[in-house]
Amino acid sequence: MKYNSLGNTGVLVSEICLGTMTFGGSGYWKAMGELQQNAVNDIVKTAVDNGINFIDTANVYSYGESERLLGQSIKSLGLSRNELIIATKVRARMSEGKNQVGLGRLQIMQQIEDSLKRLQIDHVDLYQIHGFDPITPLEETMRGLEDIVRSGKVRYIGCSNLAAWQVMKANGIAEKNGWTKFVSTQNYYSIAGRDLENEIVPMVQDQQMGILPWSPLAGGFLSGKYTRNNKPEGDSRRLAFDFPPVNQEHAYDIIEAMETIAEAHSGDASDVSVARVALAWVLSKPGVTSVIIGAKNTDQLLDNINAVELTLTTEELEQLDKISATPKPYPQWMIQRQSNDRMSANNFSPNQSAVVSK
Ligand SMILES: NC(=O)c1ccc[n+]([C@@H]2O[C@H](COP(=O)([O-])OP(=O)(O)OC[C@H]3O[C@@H](n4cnc5c(N)ncnc54)[C@H](OP(=O)(O)O)[C@@H]3O)[C@@H](O)[C@H]2O)c1
Repeated sequence: MKYNSLGNTGVLVSEICLGTMTFGGSGYWKAMGELQQNAVNDIVKTAVDNGINFIDTANVYSYGESERLLGQSIKSLGLSRNELIIATKVRARMSEGKNQVGLGRLQIMQQIEDSLKRLQIDHVDLYQIHGFDPITPLEETMRGLEDIVRSGKVRYIGCSNLAAWQVMKANGIAEKNGWTKFVSTQNYYSIAGRDLENEIVPMVQDQQMGILPWSPLAGGFLSGKYTRNNKPEGDSRRLAFDFPPVNQEHAYDIIEAMETIAEAHSGDASDVSVARVALAWVLSKPGVTSVIIGAKNTDQLLDNINAVELTLTTEELEQLDKISATPKPYPQWMIQRQSNDRMSANNFSPNQSAVVSK
């Protein structure tokens, strides 16, 4: 397991982060997974035993149950709090009340307290806004986040599911006021969903932030059990819940290419799964700090963790890049077109500043 800096901070996080959306299973969250305490303990122990030090949850996962199960697990397993980087989130609706949702100061102050109680800890390492709140001024949100950092309840802040301009505006407000800035952004990123390469990846590289990809297997669609001619039996999540959206025909072409690569890496001793190829592709991408995996059992978890041992060749990565590419939207195709002659003629990389020689 490798450990990467969390954005431009001194914190090292494992390149695989344990996602906990499969814990609990209340209401809307049932299709994601219904793991109860014993199963959660097995998952958390297996993750930590295999080098994972980074765990992601959210207040809204099973309406607090995921945080509660995780907190209990850390306690029961006797894990060292200081060895874990615990991330959670705020923004989603927690109950029917008018103000039980969003990123107003009121909600941030209430939700951090509730999360800390459920997790049975006194601070969260990375507190993330789970999306944009169109009716709360960003100034209010950033000031609320600053206050919970200053109070010691939160160490770092991050964002999720924001447009690049929203991240830049929020961090601009924070910088102007001397407040804490987002160090990471959590986004959907898989070999069948590369939209964030257009705006988020260049922003993150420019701003030295970290990307924490979620649903790297597109909710299981890219695990190898969904093929053009076959769907899994049983309670596999994507049979019940079509999220995140996937262009299935395009994804089947990618899955077939990944099957060939998985076979090429399989030996007598062990098979390499399609899931591992899909995860190894995400792990290879620029700007990616830690890939948030989901698992319903320890077999899936170990399979996914083993992706860190799979090194795809340059040719394999190029092949996967090509088959999974989609046309660039505007203005990205124009930016690329205009950049081409500046970069290739002078042999500059995008982050180098141009030195004009006289
Ligand atoms: N910020 C956000 O808005 C956001 C959104 C979504 C997720 N997340 C975070 O990202 C984490 C991961 O998301 P995700 O659960 O959607 O990830 P994912 O890796 O795309 O999907 C996980 C699902 O795929 C199947 N699977 C996983 N590994 C497998 C394997 N090796 N072989 C076969 N099937 C396998 C399992 O479902 P089945 O067995 O049912 O097929 C599992 O629950 C979440 O836990 C959460 O922490 C964040």
